[in-house]
Amino acid sequence: LHSVSGNCERNSESGVDVENCTDINWDELGFNPVPTDFMYVMKCAKGDNFAEGSLVPFGNIEINPFATILNYGQGIFEGLKAYRTEDGHIVLFRPEQNAQRMKIGADRFCMPSPSIDQFINAVKQTALANKRWVPPLGKGSLYIRPLLMGTGASLSVVPAPEYTLLVYCCPVTNYHKGALNLKVESKFYRAISGTGGTGGIKSVTNYAPVYAATTAARADGFSDVLFLDSSTGKNIEEVSACNVFVVKGNSICTPETNGAILPGITRKSIIEIALDLGYQVMERAISLEEMLDADEVFCTGTAVVVNSVSSVTFTETRVEYKTGAESLSQKLRKILVGIQTGSMEDSRGWTVRI
Ligand code: COI
Repeated sequence: LHSVSGNCERNSESGVDVENCTDINWDELGFNPVPTDFMYVMKCAKGDNFAEGSLVPFGNIEINPFATILNYGQGIFEGLKAYRTEDGHIVLFRPEQNAQRMKIGADRFCMPSPSIDQFINAVKQTALANKRWVPPLGKGSLYIRPLLMGTGASLSVVPAPEYTLLVYCCPVTNYHKGALNLKVESKFYRAISGTGGTGGIKSVTNYAPVYAATTAARADGFSDVLFLDSSTGKNIEEVSACNVFVVKGNSICTPETNGAILPGITRKSIIEIALDLGYQVMERAISLEEMLDADEVFCTGTAVVVNSVSSVTFTETRVEYKTGAESLSQKLRKILVGIQTGSMEDSRGWTVRI
């Protein structure tokens, strides 16, 4: 057996091993929608619990125009990844954390949620049914997107009578190309500050509102936008799709999960790894001034993994930070990816072999 294009393995007697073959060029992967083979669907009526789901061919879905996801944003999602390991297995990274976060979000959005086991089972089935789309080691990962939504009809602003958990997936590499040059946004906010809002929920309603800021920033050559807190406009919160960390000397800070900050699973994992390495890690409010005075800034997220920030621009002020192989962020990234892909010891049992 030997590899030809994509991950096809060709056997001289039997031809192409279709089960393990895609004609994708792994070197050209980005973070783009690539249709895969199967998705998982599970439905539930309001007041009931989720019961049985099944795999169906990946494709468009039919949805009632009155569905609350379409009209009132009754929807939350998760993102997690399956990796190929050095010894050829496929593993998930901390899927129970996503399952727990989905439960919290479902409560906030008045939706039934799958149990932890149902969630993990749905994710496993989706990844296994699409295993030919898990990129080879070093070429990326299979991004898995569980989406919980109100699919029942309602014209009134009330919870839907029916819900759907849909899990689909897509091979990806890094979300951003290279280190980030961020613009600090001073007109729009990502989330309202404090505990009453939904900034800390992975709801569909938190993402399109960043487009106005990110579209303008990208047109000016920035890679993404850093949002400030909506009550004082003085503290840093998040980038459009990832958490942010600030490094000064031996101390690493990240905004505390105060209701407006998404409790990222990569964020949480990086905190543990950094503590193990002997860094002082603090979750607390971080002023923009403090960030502009930092040695290093980096972002974390499932999609983003860990990415260095090369510069932050606030009005006329532009500050550059350390990046590259010697930076702390790249050191942390290497450890995290090492654990995720089985080249480093997973002493905390974060990976789940499927
Ligand atoms: C993730 O990192 O999984 C996210 O959900 C970010 C996504 C909006 C691209």
